[in-house]
Amino acid sequence: MCRVLYSGEQEAKLKPNTMNVYIETYGCQMNEYDSEIVKSLLLENDYILVDNPEQADIILLNTCSVREHASRKVIARVHALRHLNNGRQKKIGLLGCMPTNYRRELINDKKLPIDFIAGPDSYKRLASLIDEHIDSGKRTFDIRLSRSETYSDVHPFRAQGVNAWIAVMRGCDNYCTFCVVPYTRGRERSRSVESIVNEARRLAKCGYKQVTLLGQNVNSYQHSEHDFGYLLDKVSEVDGLERIRFTSPHPKDFPRSLLRVVAENDKVCKHIHLPLQAGNTRILDMMNRTYSKEEFLDLVHEIRDFYPDMVLSTDIIVGFPTETETEFDDTVDVVAHVAFDSAFIFKYSERKGTIAARKYPDDVPEAIKTERIVRLNELQKEISLKKNKAHIGQEHKVLIESMTTKKSHTDVQGRNDGNKLVILPGGDYCTGDFVRAKIVDASAHVLKGIVTSVVHAV
Ligand code: 5AD
Ligand code: SF4
Repeated sequence: MCRVLYSGEQEAKLKPNTMNVYIETYGCQMNEYDSEIVKSLLLENDYILVDNPEQADIILLNTCSVREHASRKVIARVHALRHLNNGRQKKIGLLGCMPTNYRRELINDKKLPIDFIAGPDSYKRLASLIDEHIDSGKRTFDIRLSRSETYSDVHPFRAQGVNAWIAVMRGCDNYCTFCVVPYTRGRERSRSVESIVNEARRLAKCGYKQVTLLGQNVNSYQHSEHDFGYLLDKVSEVDGLERIRFTSPHPKDFPRSLLRVVAENDKVCKHIHLPLQAGNTRILDMMNRTYSKEEFLDLVHEIRDFYPDMVLSTDIIVGFPTETETEFDDTVDVVAHVAFDSAFIFKYSERKGTIAARKYPDDVPEAIKTERIVRLNELQKEISLKKNKAHIGQEHKVLIESMTTKKSHTDVQGRNDGNKLVILPGGDYCTGDFVRAKIVDASAHVLKGIVTSVVHAV
């Protein structure tokens, strides 16, 4: 039987006198996945999931700590929710990365209107933390990090869709000096191939066409003698799954054997997110990224030798401590050279407890960071537009993800193999269908197409 819970099953679990839970998720896909784990664990304890805070007795914020802005947003939201008058004795809990990053402040600050706190490895204790708070009236918490928790025995509660996330590893041992993740999510640990393939099989049975394998450092996956390339091959053998994506990898973990799998396995999408972070070797050293500018460029060449049209996206940080204009020019140079299809560009944000925060004063002025991010975004936009326009006239296989778009109720949207958003006019196809589409127009962010055939309907 399909163990993924849908709203029908959820209703069947409705009981009088149980509490309503609302969960809001911030940050990365791993947090999205963790919220699905939390939902599943709470449903097992007879909580009822609701879609808005007005109906909730328990409000959970699954938080992100990767940049200062994300943390500030959550604190503002906590205060707003505390003032929300929904006629209930609401309880507010913090989950995710903020609890482990701000452990002391959150536990000791009596004025913060937070009732219970659970870190990323403590979700199995969440129901008890809520009970203990209700019994004692005191703030309860569990923010211990584990070396072994992978939640591989929990079946996430998934909203029905075309993509399902599967966390294959958790934590990170890389200690990039700017990054808080090794402190908030702890040491690297991988699930067994068997548990991942079983989850993928269940998902395929439930009708999912695409899975995205997740990890903070996904390609450092290692379980007994099995590495990430082996795992990709095994997941691709699951009948019914048609697309396999993965995120986020680290450039240091791309042996040729993995590149070969990505290039040659038809089910593995031809898109690699390859976080550059900076294009200058001195800054990369300070970041502890373990590659130089030249090594990064060599890897890009190697990827393109295996598969010339591989779609590449990246993450970049501008204004890392001491970054000079000339050093920033190296980043511009790499961006121009590689011609990524898209890039997420961030201003450096000093994070408490990181190596960079201890060793390097955040000395690049805000105005310079702004100048650099604007310059790089403009360049990237030009490149993205050029790359997208080159698709005009081509035919792409698109998996329909939504029956509306941001701008239209008559258009539909989906993604091609390279993860690019494709807008199509509505027709005799729906979410979960694959269609062939001829690309007729493109902007820097989306492709527009017309459907030439429906590959197969559900
Ligand atoms: N400041 C700015 N950006 C950061 N990132 C991680 N830590 C920081 C930080 N302290 C970015 C990196 C990473 C992405 C998820 O977030 O580019 O790849
Ligand atoms: Fe952070 Fe670096 Fe680990 Fe990515 S690889 S999560 S940037 S420490």
